[in-house]
Amino acid sequence: MKVLGISASPRAGGNTDILLDKALEGVKASGARVQKVILNTLKFSPCQECQNTRDDGTCIVEDDMQSVYKRIEETDIVILASPIFFGSLSAQAKMMIDRFQCIWRVKYMLKKDIFGRKKKGAFICVEASSREDFFNNAKSILKNFFATINAEYSQELFCMGVDEKGKILKYPHLLQKAFELGKSMV
Ligand SMILES: Cc1cc2nc3c(=O)[nH]c(=O)nc-3n(C[C@H](O)[C@H](O)[C@H](O)COP(=O)(O)O)c2cc1C
Repeated sequence: MKVLGISASPRAGGNTDILLDKALEGVKASGARVQKVILNTLKFSPCQECQNTRDDGTCIVEDDMQSVYKRIEETDIVILASPIFFGSLSAQAKMMIDRFQCIWRVKYMLKKDIFGRKKKGAFICVEASSREDFFNNAKSILKNFFATINAEYSQELFCMGVDEKGKILKYPHLLQKAFELGKSMV
């Protein structure tokens, strides 16, 4: 069983990162293999809308996203963690998701399901405010992304009222929830 954690925060060691690491600890406790991708350390461009170029679901832009496609294709479980930025996912998360247009097009327009086996997906999200609508905005994008990569939206953890770097450490019950989320995904 392979599990891929994707951190979409620019703040290394921040709340998103800490929650994702806890979830991945839970995954490891269940004996699965873990990989982690930190989107902010990758060099990749936003989608260039070259969508009619290829019919095999591959993207023509040769950058660090190529390794992300491969890792997602090969994984059984994806856990994506993002902070809320301006009421939705971070730009890092959205940029990655838009780059899956090549997969979306082949799956839904050409009706070819070429992108790997069935997976499960979980979403971890953190915000400073207490706005449920912001989580819902992010969730609807995430669900669309998960459907595109054949991942069933299985679990979520939304943490409100968390702003400064590392503040999540003051909430052991949320860290425990992240751990349990990871454990139960496997
Ligand atoms: C550019 C930016 C935009 C943000 N927008 C929101 C927002 O719309 N709503 C909110 O509740 N918090 C917002 N925040 C606060 C972050 O969601 C919050 O600080 C979160 O804990 C950051 O997670 P991190 O430590 O993983 O980066 C924003 C922060 C930044 C830097």
